[in-house]
Amino acid sequence: MRKILVFTDIHFVEHGQRIGHLDPEERLLAGLRHALGEVPDAERIVICGDLAHHGRAAQYERLRAALADCPLPVHLMIGNHDRRAAFCAAFPDAPVTSTGHVQQVIDTGDFRLILLDTLDEQAEVEHSGRLCADRLSWLRAALDSSGDRRVIVFTHHPPMDVGFDAMDRIGLTNKTELLALLGAYPNVCQIISGHVHRTISGGAGGIPTALFKSSCHQSPIMRPEMDEHTSIDEPGAFGLLYLMDTGVVVHSEDFDIPGRRVLFYD
Ligand SMILES: [Fe+2]
Repeated sequence: MRKILVFTDIHFVEHGQRIGHLDPEERLLAGLRHALGEVPDAERIVICGDLAHHGRAAQYERLRAALADCPLPVHLMIGNHDRRAAFCAAFPDAPVTSTGHVQQVIDTGDFRLILLDTLDEQAEVEHSGRLCADRLSWLRAALDSSGDRRVIVFTHHPPMDVGFDAMDRIGLTNKTELLALLGAYPNVCQIISGHVHRTISGGAGGIPTALFKSSCHQSPIMRPEMDEHTSIDEPGAFGLLYLMDTGVVVHSEDFDIPGRRVLFYD
């Protein structure tokens, strides 16, 4: 059984800045300590975008330093808070497509992980996402060459509405197009997304889909008067994927819960 750790929406800021009272770097490092301690046999980490809160060079440099000692391969995606040029400058080794998008394929055992770039830097609705024709064409080729592998697709913006109007207004604008493409490949078995800062599971086009909490700040149940910036300081979390012969099993693990204790009972 292969184990993949998934972090998302880590929202790095410059030294001395915070999001509310939270330091995103402290939160990520606490999550990594917990994850690496509890899952020492994880094979890799995927971070599903919103790496930097403002997409600024100093924020990416801080992230680069924070990950320097991580003992596992870390695969970085970008989200609506990121800026592609600044990210690529800070992480020149990160795979990009021939059209300059931050997308990659990772084959592990009989699984293929496909990491997509849903950032739309010209979005009419700020923070919404889109997969342009170039990115969809690249995805089609990655699916065509997947052979007998089972495919897990990673996106920052989830390809489904989540029922919170404020978040659905800044969703993936061409999710229908993406799902039509994925639906033509029955070996696509799981979608993993971020963006909403909340543990959510459901289906998109009939494909099981899971979203994880941020390592930093979270979304509450959103009332109509709330906007997408409304956040709550619940514990951070990360995802843990078990890639099993029988399918993909998705766990979400909170970390740094005050007073957390292991209980024994009979
Ligand atoms: Fe985010």
